Amino acid sequence: MASSLKSLVHDDSRYQKSFALFLERSSEHQCMRDFIHNTLPGILASVGDGKSHLNVIGVGSGSGEIDLEMISKLCLKHPGVTVDNEVVEPSSQQLHNYRVMVSQKPGLDHIKFNWNKMTASEFEDHWKGNKMTQKADFIHMIQMLYYVKDPGATISFFRSLLDKNGKLLIILVSGESGWGKLWRSFASQLCNSDISQCVTTGDIKSLLDSKGVSYQNYELPSQMDISECFTEGDEKGELLLDFLTEVQDFSKTASPELRTGVLELLRHPDCSIESNGKVIFNNNLGVIVIDQLT
Ligand SMILES: C[S@@+](CC[C@H](N)C(=O)[O-])C[C@H]1O[C@@H](n2cnc3c(N)ncnc32)[C@H](O)[C@@H]1O
Repeated sequence: MASSLKSLVHDDSRYQKSFALFLERSSEHQCMRDFIHNTLPGILASVGDGKSHLNVIGVGSGSGEIDLEMISKLCLKHPGVTVDNEVVEPSSQQLHNYRVMVSQKPGLDHIKFNWNKMTASEFEDHWKGNKMTQKADFIHMIQMLYYVKDPGATISFFRSLLDKNGKLLIILVSGESGWGKLWRSFASQLCNSDISQCVTTGDIKSLLDSKGVSYQNYELPSQMDISECFTEGDEKGELLLDFLTEVQDFSKTASPELRTGVLELLRHPDCSIESNGKVIFNNNLGVIVIDQLT
């Protein structure tokens, strides 16, 4: 049964506010930075096959901080390359923030940014409609496959764009995270299958396994302080709850039974640990890297 609750992603301003607070309360970007610093260079070493120009596509880039760190590692691994970077992001606010950051950051002259204010599926239609044949060396989808109708089809399309030695990198919450537990219990009530998928790297790995697609995967330990969610009426707690449930105004619009059930599960040892009076939610992420179709 599809959820009758409104998806948070339909209200971009509230979505971006909740996401910004989530970033403040979690080690999300720090654990990605550690991965980018320690592991990504090895993954990117073989992309491009010696070319002097590389094509990158970022899908659901947000305001671009993580994208720029990855591109900087790509350029360090392949000194002297120029880069064409397609940014696919439907939020005008986020795209604006990304553009401002690029305009203020020195040393990006070798990167050409193409701004696509569109969803992944609009980009696919645009690509196919214009019969584009260009290939990409590195494509990434970081924490965005929740917002497409069919994550498997989205992966297949973007994978089909990879050039020889190209890599597709996906980051989502891990199946073993608190998110995975929350969604296994409440997906039918929280996720609207047209716009939000309660999908984890566990689901993507099963899908790839069923198709015989090989991949590498990495687990990134991460935590999120959700203590404010348990203070009734706390504005920040409500924003965090909206982000956790992907539901707009969850506290006000969910049934009392659903609200109680979600809050109980969120502080259950399956999802969180309690330490120094704080409730710390398991926000572990998973990374999946897929090679070009051969
Ligand atoms: C959780 S944020 C992640 C942002 C960034 N990748 C990061 O990790 O900081 C999800 C992003 O996906 C974007 N998004 C939402 N629906 C999308 C869609 N259908 N196609 C592409 N991006 C989408 C949102 O606007 C948002 O910027």
